[in-house]
Amino acid sequence: MAKTKVGVLGATGSVGQRFILLLKDHPTLELVALGASSRSAGKKYSEAVNWQQTTLLPDEAADITVSPCDPSYFTDCKVVFSGLDADVAGDVEKAFAEAGLAVISNAKNYRRDPHVPLVVPLVNTDHLSILKSRKTPGFIVCNSNCSTAGLVVPLKALSALGPIDAVSVTTMQALSGAGFSPGVPSMAILDNVIPFIGGEEEKMEYETRKILGSVSADGTTIADIPASDIKVSAQCNRVAVTDGHLECVSMRFAHRPPPTLEQVKEALRTYECAPQSAGCPSAPKHAIHLLEQPDRPQPRLDRDRDAGYGVSVGRVREDPLLDYKFVVLSHNTVIGAAGSGILIAEYLITQNVI
Ligand SMILES: NC(=O)c1ccc[n+]([C@@H]2O[C@H](COP(=O)([O-])OP(=O)(O)OC[C@H]3O[C@@H](n4cnc5c(N)ncnc54)[C@H](OP(=O)(O)O)[C@@H]3O)[C@@H](O)[C@H]2O)c1
Repeated sequence: MAKTKVGVLGATGSVGQRFILLLKDHPTLELVALGASSRSAGKKYSEAVNWQQTTLLPDEAADITVSPCDPSYFTDCKVVFSGLDADVAGDVEKAFAEAGLAVISNAKNYRRDPHVPLVVPLVNTDHLSILKSRKTPGFIVCNSNCSTAGLVVPLKALSALGPIDAVSVTTMQALSGAGFSPGVPSMAILDNVIPFIGGEEEKMEYETRKILGSVSADGTTIADIPASDIKVSAQCNRVAVTDGHLECVSMRFAHRPPPTLEQVKEALRTYECAPQSAGCPSAPKHAIHLLEQPDRPQPRLDRDRDAGYGVSVGRVREDPLLDYKFVVLSHNTVIGAAGSGILIAEYLITQNVI
């Protein structure tokens, strides 16, 4: 079968570079075009990019000339993955969708639009069904905020045991989540923790409710879970870790008595997601790696399980305030960003949407 031709917008950034790595030798997607700002356009990718990955820049991408982010330069592509700054993503992504392309976005601009699916592929690929009601060939699908992506996977697994009505989460978020330009200055983060990430707590508190929400009865929009039904409280911190967001979560079930600790662990251990059953090439073997060691997960040791496409959950125990508490680790630029986009594209191909 011919591969689906794809482009990456914002290709020089933190998320863009991860797309380049994940698309190398991809079995069904072929990278043919790259876009970035006027600072980079016209240069070979290898000259435009400040490559920050521990794996070498793939040859296939190095020689591609970076284009302006205009659909006229992406006519070979069926899909574009966007790792654009939110300042520019709104207009650019809309223009690509209007030109008939499938746009899979990492920016925040359209995440709250009820006509745009906000998808963490390990959790809510069912929301992609609203694309069937669209009137034009092009469309936008959003990935969640990177810290929300890790949180919702265990919450979805646990919601099989009954509704959840309260979640409290404290994050320790990696530096790559802040992007490269300008990113977090080394003098600000070495020997330090920064207890503020602008807009992040609001994103986690809202996006969790949309991702765990449902398709409306007419099949055209996504209905969030009302804030009165699930209270989410987030506290977000930046720490001196390169990749991998660690989150300490406490949660409560709505019904009394709550499930037992063994039931909670079993629900996490056996959780399966749609990209696995659909045979998506990048689907993780385990959507959740349930770790029993008392000091795991840890970013450096566990973020690359299933190449960053799965999440790790550990320290599952009873919580004296709510019902249960645990620690979740997710790779912020893989399942929290680029990998999520790729898994969404793979899933849409299996559903004949692209
Ligand atoms: N990093 C993460 O873990 C993560 C996770 C989830 C979502 N996100 C979201 O993903 C997006 C990208 O984040 P990032 O961390 O990769 O940021 P970044 O490292 O700062 O990269 C931004 C990219 O946008 C391009 N760009 C900036 N201004 C532009 C313009 N006027 N026209 C065209 N391209 C322009 C840059 O190109 P030049 O190099 O040419 O300037 C660069 O390729 C953001 O919306 C962010 O919120 C990030």
